[in-house]
Amino acid sequence: MLPEGALKDRVAIVTGGGTGLGFAMAKEFSRVGAKLVLASRSVEHLEPACDEIRRAGGDAIAVTVDVRNAEQVDEMVRRAVEKWGGVDILVNNAAGNFICPAENLSVNGWNAVVNIVLNGTFYCSRAVGRWWIDNRRTGSILNIVSTYAWTGGPGTVHSASAKAGVVAMTRTLAIEWARFGIRVVAIAPGPFEGTGATDKLWVNEDVATMLKEHIPVKRFGRPEELARLASFLVSDYAEFSNGAIVEFDAGTWLNRGIYQNFGSK
Ligand code: HXC
Ligand code: NAP
Repeated sequence: MLPEGALKDRVAIVTGGGTGLGFAMAKEFSRVGAKLVLASRSVEHLEPACDEIRRAGGDAIAVTVDVRNAEQVDEMVRRAVEKWGGVDILVNNAAGNFICPAENLSVNGWNAVVNIVLNGTFYCSRAVGRWWIDNRRTGSILNIVSTYAWTGGPGTVHSASAKAGVVAMTRTLAIEWARFGIRVVAIAPGPFEGTGATDKLWVNEDVATMLKEHIPVKRFGRPEELARLASFLVSDYAEFSNGAIVEFDAGTWLNRGIYQNFGSK
């Protein structure tokens, strides 16, 4: 979507940037000129992801971090600044999820997901936001949420509750930090193929088929489609966008009627 060079020399931290949607966004940012910091717990996918970006002519480093640990998050930002001289973009993409009926969910299970999604997003936003404010720099934060933040997500109460918190955080920080030149926006993706959600949520072919049937265009999203929207939202082209939550799901969350095919050919 964006011309090459649109993010030239911008530094982007993408949490969970070694897999799924995070990696797709990282590759697209790199294609249009950004330097990347891919940050998550496991070097096993971070390093190959960085290698792929470098082979394509980009710049990327891997930083291991558990976003549930605020000190590790601060260190992640320090490493990014040390390597690339600053940070311009933060994508809070890291997430944890699994299907579990609420009555069976343990306290640890609840905490694991809420700490990654809600607390992790705050720790990363705080660390980068402080750096921008202290250094009189501006930047943009992109949070990856989900439409079940507002519809509810039966079977994934931890994730739905945490994502709802991230929606509130997006809107809150968008206003609080606007005076520092910091924009905060979010994307609410629908179901995407080839991602962690595929393994964690669409546990077998029947579920995947049912889900696809529910998507108005009868196909899953492709990670590169989301990556193009993400690169626009973090770029200067979206300078007037702040606090926005962009649904990118082919209308899936609106698909609740039963009469849409009635009488049509
Ligand atoms: C019930 C489970 C469980 C399951 C873990 N737990 N999996 N409970 N059903 N399937 C419980 C454990 O028993 C434990 O509680 C607690 O959760 C913590 O588990 P750990 O394995 O110790 O946690 P940890 O190693 O920190 O791993 C975090 C994780 C894991 C969230 C549990 O799945 C993970 O690392 N996920 C990262 C990748 C991911 O989930 N991607 C999907 C994103 S998709 P007890 O009580 O036993 O100690 C997405 C889509 C959103 O977000 C919208 C789609 C439409
Ligand atoms: P994914 O491939 O499973 O990615 C999740 C990433 O988060 C992994 O790279 C993982 O890396 C990282 N992560 C997990 N826990 C972490 C922690 N404690 N600290 C640091 N990093 C951690 O998932 P995805 O499907 O691409 O999802 C990406 C984002 O899109 C998530 O926010 C998800 O909720 C959202 N989303 C996805 C879909 C979809 O259809 N895929 C739909 C709606 C919303 P490590 O294991 O190395 O830590």
